[in-house]
Amino acid sequence: MAYLQEHLSLRPYHTFNLPVSTRWMIEIRSEKEAVEFLADNRFAKTDMLILGGGSNVLFTQNFEGIILRNCIHGIEVVEETTESVILKVGAGENWHQFVLHCLEQGYYGIENLSLIPGTVGAAPIQNIGAYGVEAKEVIESVETIHLTSFEPRTFSREECQFGYRDSIFKRQAKGKYLITRVNMRLSKMAAPNLSYGAISSEVADPATATPKEVSDAVIRIRQSKLPDPAEIGNAGSFFKNPEIPVGLFQQIQEEYPEVPSYPISDELVKVPAGWLIQTAGWKGKRIGDYGVHARQALVLVNYGDASGADIYQLSEKILQDIREKFGISLEREVQVIGAVS
Ligand code: FAD
Ligand code: EPU
Repeated sequence: MAYLQEHLSLRPYHTFNLPVSTRWMIEIRSEKEAVEFLADNRFAKTDMLILGGGSNVLFTQNFEGIILRNCIHGIEVVEETTESVILKVGAGENWHQFVLHCLEQGYYGIENLSLIPGTVGAAPIQNIGAYGVEAKEVIESVETIHLTSFEPRTFSREECQFGYRDSIFKRQAKGKYLITRVNMRLSKMAAPNLSYGAISSEVADPATATPKEVSDAVIRIRQSKLPDPAEIGNAGSFFKNPEIPVGLFQQIQEEYPEVPSYPISDELVKVPAGWLIQTAGWKGKRIGDYGVHARQALVLVNYGDASGADIYQLSEKILQDIREKFGISLEREVQVIGAVS
């Protein structure tokens, strides 16, 4: 039987450390429990939110509905050759523990995604990425249950429509499916990816670096820049890095020749939102108990007693300022839950 609780603080269940609660929470440990709960008429008219590790959400108020906490576990080898292995992984598995498990087993390809908080089930939703690698590179398919028909459906990699911090689960399929398991193909051949500049300078010898050394390097880089949610509430990058027209980029470059950029196509250039926010003067800014992190301007933080509404308002001010100063509309990466004003 799934475990149902009522009137619960959400502090332990999300990484912004906000003083919010939920009316109900149910922990689901299998597909069977998921279908039993979804078919239960008692909650048919109740708002529902699926939560993994709560590391990409901002609650602006108490949640008056039911939170379905995904606790489906298990890592199973479903196919193996001399070169690779396909693993079926429960959506409730912790992502970073899964990365470490793969390294121990000699399964490679996701070492650059070390230390990303959250669950395996959320990885396909925004196609998590870091240090030159994205989850879409290893995801073969995503197993789901439709929330109203309770039918199982497996999305192939193509059907997932992965993009930068994007997938079908943030678009047409948003809020319609519970992700239950993710099938991933890992390589048995070590092929370290050191394309992200900082990694090469962090490993002893880039020519002989092992996947474990890359993972350790990524962990050190992340710990030096990003606040640990156990100490300072945050949800990682609050905004996505914008892709802007080349013409607009050239205008910015005339005024700021040092502006960093990554070419996307003949028409588009990606600019780090952290640079825009820092250049606009927000880095390290603190208002009461919340603000913009001092070492990473893309991360909004709760120093202790902030509310979700405080952080949302701060994000609105930053959005407006970046629009006025650079003519760029940033997009939030973090999922905002609750009313906003
Ligand atoms: P949650 O926050 O619980 O949920 C996120 C969204 O997915 C919600 O809309 C939720 O309803 C939905 N959802 C969750 N699980 C399911 C499911 N099983 N079925 C259907 N819907 C579901 N992200 C990166 O891409 N790269 C990074 O480098 C990175 N660094 C971070 C660093 C820090 C310090 C923090 C706090 C966050 C960082 N993130 C990063 C963001 C976050 O870790 C990822 O988005 C992660 O995948 C979220 O997982 P979660 O389980 O916590 O999802
Ligand atoms: N920068 C600044 N000031 C800042 C922060 C960044 O000028 O305060 C500039 C620097 O030029 C730096 C560049 O931005 O070289 C890139 O910075 P960084 O390497 O820290 O990466 P990012 O673009 O800020 C992205 C992801 C992170 C991911 C890292 C590493 C997004 C929205 N964020 O951050 O993902 O870990 O790259 O690959 O794409 C997340 O999604 O939550 C997240 C943390």
